[in-house]
Amino acid sequence: MSERVVELVALVGSLREASINRQLAQLAADRAPAGVHVTVVDYLGDLPFYSEDLDPGSAPDVDLDAGVARLRGVVGSADGVLVVTPEYNGTIPAALKNAIDWLSRPYGNGALQGKPVGVIGAALGRYAGTWSREDTRKSVGIAGGRVIEEVDFGLQTSALGENGLADAAIVEPLVAAVARLATEVAVSV
Ligand SMILES: Cc1cc2nc3c(=O)[nH]c(=O)nc-3n(C[C@H](O)[C@H](O)[C@H](O)COP(=O)(O)O)c2cc1C
Repeated sequence: MSERVVELVALVGSLREASINRQLAQLAADRAPAGVHVTVVDYLGDLPFYSEDLDPGSAPDVDLDAGVARLRGVVGSADGVLVVTPEYNGTIPAALKNAIDWLSRPYGNGALQGKPVGVIGAALGRYAGTWSREDTRKSVGIAGGRVIEEVDFGLQTSALGENGLADAAIVEPLVAAVARLATEVAVSV
């Protein structure tokens, strides 16, 4: 029996160039525990809005959008998914919800099916995006993912100190969240 690297995919819910969530996802990748590799997916804004007319699962004559095919491939071959998202108007940003919709199909056999998923994120408000994380878990679960409730970290961006994301109070729970998610993955091959 040899141990293999656990492959996680981090889906970033913000499209903003200087996104704190994007930085958080990158930090999760940079500080991933030994034996864990995190690939950051930050191109959710390139996907078309989900429509069954664009999905070969329901419209066999259409070609699947290349970005969607790439996303489905990356998520489908990963061992687990870490969603890193802000909160927009009390819920999931549209780009992230759209990605979940694409990943939920084909119904019962989408790329998220049975996949361990953890949800963390950064938001401005004092609840640090709790509603968004809760709604993301609900949606991911309905989409077929296996939500790991214990993976939870919310960063209140308005309370960021002078060390920014380098603060141990951020790095430690972030690394712990990644490590917790990785324990859900069978590590022996
Ligand atoms: C359209 C919009 C809606 C927002 N709604 C919320 C909200 O409901 N709760 C909250 O805490 N922050 C809210 N914010 C602030 C974001 O949490 C903040 O801008 C965050 O840094 C965005 O993440 P990013 O830095 O990764 O882009 C909102 C921001 C935008 C642009």
